[in-house]
Amino acid sequence: MQSDGRIRTFHILTFGCQMNLADSSTLAATLTSRGFSRVVTEEEADLLIFNTCSVREKAEERVFGRLGDVVRLKKARPHMKVAVVGCMAQRLGEKLVEKAPQVDFVLGTDRVFELPDVVAEGKGVSPINTAFGHENIDTIEPSRETPFSAFVTISRGCDNYCTYCIVPFVRGREVAHSADVIVESVRKLVADGVVEITLLGQNVNSYHHGEIAFPELMQRLVEETDLARLRFMTSHPKDISKHLLEVMAGSDRIMPHIHLPLQSGSSRVLEAMGRKYTAEHYLGIVGSIREKLPYVSLTTDLMVGFPTETEEEYEQTLQVVKTVQFDSAFMFRYSVRPGTAAAKQVDDVPENIKIERLQKLIELQQAISYDRNQREVGRVVRCLVEGVSRRDAAMMRGRTEGNKIVLFKTGAKEGDIVSVSISSADAYTLHGHIMEEN
Ligand code: SAH
Ligand code: SF4
Ligand code: F3S
Repeated sequence: MQSDGRIRTFHILTFGCQMNLADSSTLAATLTSRGFSRVVTEEEADLLIFNTCSVREKAEERVFGRLGDVVRLKKARPHMKVAVVGCMAQRLGEKLVEKAPQVDFVLGTDRVFELPDVVAEGKGVSPINTAFGHENIDTIEPSRETPFSAFVTISRGCDNYCTYCIVPFVRGREVAHSADVIVESVRKLVADGVVEITLLGQNVNSYHHGEIAFPELMQRLVEETDLARLRFMTSHPKDISKHLLEVMAGSDRIMPHIHLPLQSGSSRVLEAMGRKYTAEHYLGIVGSIREKLPYVSLTTDLMVGFPTETEEEYEQTLQVVKTVQFDSAFMFRYSVRPGTAAAKQVDDVPENIKIERLQKLIELQQAISYDRNQREVGRVVRCLVEGVSRRDAAMMRGRTEGNKIVLFKTGAKEGDIVSVSISSADAYTLHGHIMEEN
């Protein structure tokens, strides 16, 4: 088909965390409401959008790799436009276009939703804009990926400045939505058929708006909406309060899952990372969580090879991981991020040592995840049916209250909450069958 050069269709490639996934679906909704239509392949798109992540060097390299392929796509369809938005756009700005001239628009984290105006030429909006401005975030609509589940961003940005982390630089300072706006968003989504909502923030537990802190916000959502399943992430250990655990224990509609990044098991390394807790303090928090919420799933983020990390300090991480017994973990090698405090230090743990440390940590965690999942065998768990399994079309995929994936034979529809009897498990997935009456 001959193109008249107008931009009508778009496709979004999303990299990075849930916040980016949420932003991508909000962006898709915004573009759709402005008359653009979403297409499933890059080849069909008049506008190809990369919503990007800067958290590790690899995340950025992946985007540059994909941008390389775009040159060929643009040759075949010269009217095609390419937008890079989000964290990498924020970090690199103009430099991104210098490195990848095939890119037409660069919009930072607070400019993402201006893309429709930027595309509609003649509005005088700059194609490269990385100015912050998320003070008026209450105008941003919540997003949903499926008819039955949604993300609601409750705060944006981060004030913690962990020494290794680029997020405060690319997301700006922490700003919270008002509780009234959040409650109203959740009510609307529930009225529209949503049964599970994940509250999102770089640091949800530090949520504060007027008199309302995170536990009060959770309490209001439980009392003032009919939402069936409420989740949240990510939690910083320094902000987990007794009050929050009481609120969680007091409602079976708040899902028993806490993602609590540990990073390192060495108190010396934690201090150098600017994490504001010691390994002992972290273990104390885990003790209080498990006392109040015996069935809680605990997941974490871990990093190896932070500058100056010794073999002994790394062993301490293994030790804390063994002691805590996390349900699962995201594990990373330290990656220098220009401009952060840690970037001033020499990246002195050799790459091969980082790889070895990571490998051994992954093996340890896999064995622990396997053990933790065995504890589910023989139990009947409540699951939200999310869809058909990606690997086996005869199986459905659900999510337990503790955020584990369960596969079971078809017999329920997407969006249902069903009881599943767990018959076996590996390190990543539970297997079971649906119980008769639900
Ligand atoms: N806001 C969340 C997570 C942000 S980034 C939090 O505070 O926990 C997600 C994870 O990426 C971090 O928990 C950390 O483990 C990892 N990460 C961040 N910066 C990194 C870096 N420079 N190198 C390697 N991993 C990093
Ligand atoms: Fe990064 Fe630390 Fe903020 Fe998390 S809390 S986003 S790791 S600076
Ligand atoms: Fe990456 Fe930005 Fe999220 S740097 S982890 S996409 S906040």
